[in-house]
Amino acid sequence: MTQKSSYFQYPSLKSNNEKFMPTIKDPNNLDFKIKKSTSDDAAAIVSLVNQESERSGAVLRISKDEAIKWIANGTSLVAKDVYGCIVGHISANVWPASGYIELRSFVVNPSFRKKGIGIRLVINMLKSIKKRYGDRQIISFTNKFGSGKRILTANGFKPFDYEKVPKELFSIGMPHRGKKEHGYMVFVLKCSNAKSKLNNFGG
Ligand SMILES: CC(C)(COP(=O)(O)OP(=O)(O)OC[C@H]1O[C@@H](n2cnc3c(N)ncnc32)[C@H](O)[C@@H]1OP(=O)(O)O)[C@@H](O)C(=O)NCCC(=O)NCCS
Repeated sequence: MTQKSSYFQYPSLKSNNEKFMPTIKDPNNLDFKIKKSTSDDAAAIVSLVNQESERSGAVLRISKDEAIKWIANGTSLVAKDVYGCIVGHISANVWPASGYIELRSFVVNPSFRKKGIGIRLVINMLKSIKKRYGDRQIISFTNKFGSGKRILTANGFKPFDYEKVPKELFSIGMPHRGKKEHGYMVFVLKCSNAKSKLNNFGG
């Protein structure tokens, strides 16, 4: 597949064979929709998430199988621009032993950030989790700086002791508790305490 030149491409990934997202024609066009992901979206989701992982380390790399699992489970949302291109993603992963529902692979394409897509993805995901699973505990890792932390707190998430995170959540690659200076924080929210307000996030 020929790669289109106008798509924002991280330099460090130029040489690999991952499929990149389709061309973004107008990053300033605010018209986007949040939709349930379908199997057709899987490759673009993986590309979006793994490019961010490579660039900033703010999210873990994912496989196509993981993306497909979330899609099949109905716990994956995408933000699409007017041309149907995927510009943002969030998933919810249910941890079987602890029962925690973890927000995973929450990424907005850098060209589309600070337009309110991120907070809308979170609000829609919280509604979807509540509808599907009831009043569960939701958990999210985030880096200490950047919009992720502020989006979580704006929705009612509270900081949680990293040492108390159930062991199973570390099985996929987050830095283990006890490891100092890893730069991540963890936040939790009981679904019924969600504020789900746009506050000052462009709403
Ligand atoms: C975290 C992330 C998904 C947020 O996506 P986003 O679409 O930029 O999020 P929003 O636009 O809703 O909010 C981001 C900021 O834009 C501001 N904003 C939103 N709409 C705006 C508007 N219309 N005009 C001006 N500012 C606006 C918000 O106030 C917020 O400000 P802050 O960074 O000072 O807190 C994105 O930064 C990202 O992909 N980061 C890398 C991966 C990551 O860290 N994931 C989070 C793991 S929890």
